[in-house]
Amino acid sequence: MNTPLDDRGRTLVDSLLARLTRAEKLAQLQITFAMTPEGCADLARAGIGALFWPMSAAATNAVQRVAVEESAHGIPLLIGLDVIHGQRTIFPIPLAQACSFDPSVSESDGRTSAAEAASGGVNWTFAPMVDLSRDARWGRVCEGFGEDALVSGVFGAAKVRGLQGASLADAGTIAACAKHFVAYGAAEAGRDYNAVDVSERRLREGYLRPFKAVVDAGVATVMASFNTINGRPVHAHRGLLTSVLKDEWCFEGVVVGDADGVRNLIPHGVASDMTEARRLAFGAGLDIEMGMGTDLSEAAADLGPDALDDARLDDAVRRVLALKVALGLFDNPYVDESAEILAPTPEHLDAARAAAERSAVLLKNDGTLPLSDQPAKVLLVGPYADSTDHLGAWVQHFGAPAGTLADALRAARGDPELTVLPGASIYAPDPALQAQAEAAASGHDLVIVAVGEPSDLSGEASSRADLRLPGDQEALIHAIAGTGVPFAVVLACGRPLVVADWIDVAPSVLLTWHLGTQAAPAIAALLTGQANPAGRLAMGFPRAVGQLPAHYDHENTGRPASAGGQFAPKAFDMGLDGPANLQEFYTSKYRDLELGPQFAFGHGCSYSSFAHGAATLGRDAVGVADLAAGARVTVSVEVTNTSERDGDEVVLVFVRDVVASLAQPVRRLAAFARVAVAAGATESVELAFGFDELALWADDGAGFRVEPGVFEVFVGPTLTDTQTLSLTVTETS
Ligand code: GLC
Repeated sequence: MNTPLDDRGRTLVDSLLARLTRAEKLAQLQITFAMTPEGCADLARAGIGALFWPMSAAATNAVQRVAVEESAHGIPLLIGLDVIHGQRTIFPIPLAQACSFDPSVSESDGRTSAAEAASGGVNWTFAPMVDLSRDARWGRVCEGFGEDALVSGVFGAAKVRGLQGASLADAGTIAACAKHFVAYGAAEAGRDYNAVDVSERRLREGYLRPFKAVVDAGVATVMASFNTINGRPVHAHRGLLTSVLKDEWCFEGVVVGDADGVRNLIPHGVASDMTEARRLAFGAGLDIEMGMGTDLSEAAADLGPDALDDARLDDAVRRVLALKVALGLFDNPYVDESAEILAPTPEHLDAARAAAERSAVLLKNDGTLPLSDQPAKVLLVGPYADSTDHLGAWVQHFGAPAGTLADALRAARGDPELTVLPGASIYAPDPALQAQAEAAASGHDLVIVAVGEPSDLSGEASSRADLRLPGDQEALIHAIAGTGVPFAVVLACGRPLVVADWIDVAPSVLLTWHLGTQAAPAIAALLTGQANPAGRLAMGFPRAVGQLPAHYDHENTGRPASAGGQFAPKAFDMGLDGPANLQEFYTSKYRDLELGPQFAFGHGCSYSSFAHGAATLGRDAVGVADLAAGARVTVSVEVTNTSERDGDEVVLVFVRDVVASLAQPVRRLAAFARVAVAAGATESVELAFGFDELALWADDGAGFRVEPGVFEVFVGPTLTDTQTLSLTVTETS
């Protein structure tokens, strides 16, 4: 969709461009927020191009009326806001949504969020975030769709479809923004805003892929990221903002800077003042500066034709005006104040609940879950027993609050006798709370331990160096385990955590992330079996923070390990062990850790059980040219629900280029699907992949290419529980 103009729109934009002075053009390239209605009106009257949402339909109409009736050219405003996973009705955090492996969840979020935000006058949002990250220390993993490029692109595109609908001019749709372009999630040491140093290959095969997917899906805008890439701040990176995004990908939309991202070029050390910073940013391809507290006269000063040539200036203004035309703002800049959605509607709550139930992941289960039907005396303990902190890090103050698990569980079980105790504290450890919970356990048939990471410990500027449960929550889990009473753990968090210190003593663990406004009833439904979990991890859980960054699609290395390290001293008895021991020792592993993640990408359990029939390929060979021409390889498998409970199964397809000109990932996700299978029934699942999933980024200037040879194809419910097929890519068709 970018923002292609029709003849009428082009005529309007051309006529405005011809009339605007240089200062007026530069004013169109600014978004900021003002703390007061008067401040908003002053900026609108002065001709600013965009403002942050003034918090209501009435206030938006008021400021739009000033822009249309009192500014020199009557150009309406873009009204932007972060609607990351909900406006009034808050959906699960995007990382949780990705775990549903059902893109319709994010499309539903987008559609609902756009309807609610547009009703209040918002016409532009800064979502979806499609940053790839392999490092859970980075707090912003909650906002993205996990560690895989395909999943991130598919979910990002779904979110764009939901937000932008069929046309930006339609009511209830808003312009989306793919962010943060690019590789922000590769911040060194997982520390937010830190430097990024990646190869072109890592960019192309990983970080750029999801952005290409959402640009192809028609996202209207893209936001530049705060980080440098190989020393060059992205806000001043012409190679990425113009050469790749606008020239190579033919992106016709608007590139907006992140908050004060242009001003940050000064502490980055590449600009000496704001004039230099703006010259670099707009010259690199930025179209709108997001300044916090912009003074328009200062923004225009000293940015003469020598600092920013007319062609670049006009191109930026044209993009901004074209977006306003596409949004229909020149025809109707106002919203119907009587139709403003101020609270979730029943259907929006239903959509959010369905999303929440589909996004949770059952990490392990020994049968303790679902709670048995006969009335059992249940004890609910932990900081998340009575907490409403389920909205996630990007919650705006006007998001509808979540309820508590305690209330939802009482309602779900019709069990007013539910005993609820805090059991532990996140911020002020208190052994007395644990002792109280421990003592109470023996009088109950089952304990639910509800623990987690608070929303405000994830998100922007919230990297963590220690990924364990905060406070004395781990001690509570061990204390309840020590009572011998059956128990299950509910784990709420905004990122993968290190759970190694307690996971083995927990019989069942339901990972709920931060599931939004409907979190509590969704969790209660999952615990009681009214809903059947089927989520899969879109980002693996590390065994230790020392493993990070880590990702499933890693290279094999020249010395792959088949076992974890031994902390014992090297014991080579050449007489007995010989070279084998040597070979095993000198492999890629940690001496003090078992191999691999605690829970891998794609991991997740269900209350149902499934059997997969023999998987087959639609063809066992395909030519390179055919792939380049769009040929698809299909994978078919029959899935049988061998349990007595209806459920969903996720089928994953991975590929591996066994021998190539460059070392290839041991696995790369090529396709996925979530399928409903009734108890005892069998469903046929067909997936497909093609050039994009088989190609590598060559380091000889050829760009993406598929190299002839054998590809292994892995099909199954998780990363490791797979069948292996073989596909041959041939030189000739
Ligand atoms: C923040 C975030 C960005 C957000 C912007 C506007 O700093 O980096 O994701 O859209 O500012 O709020």
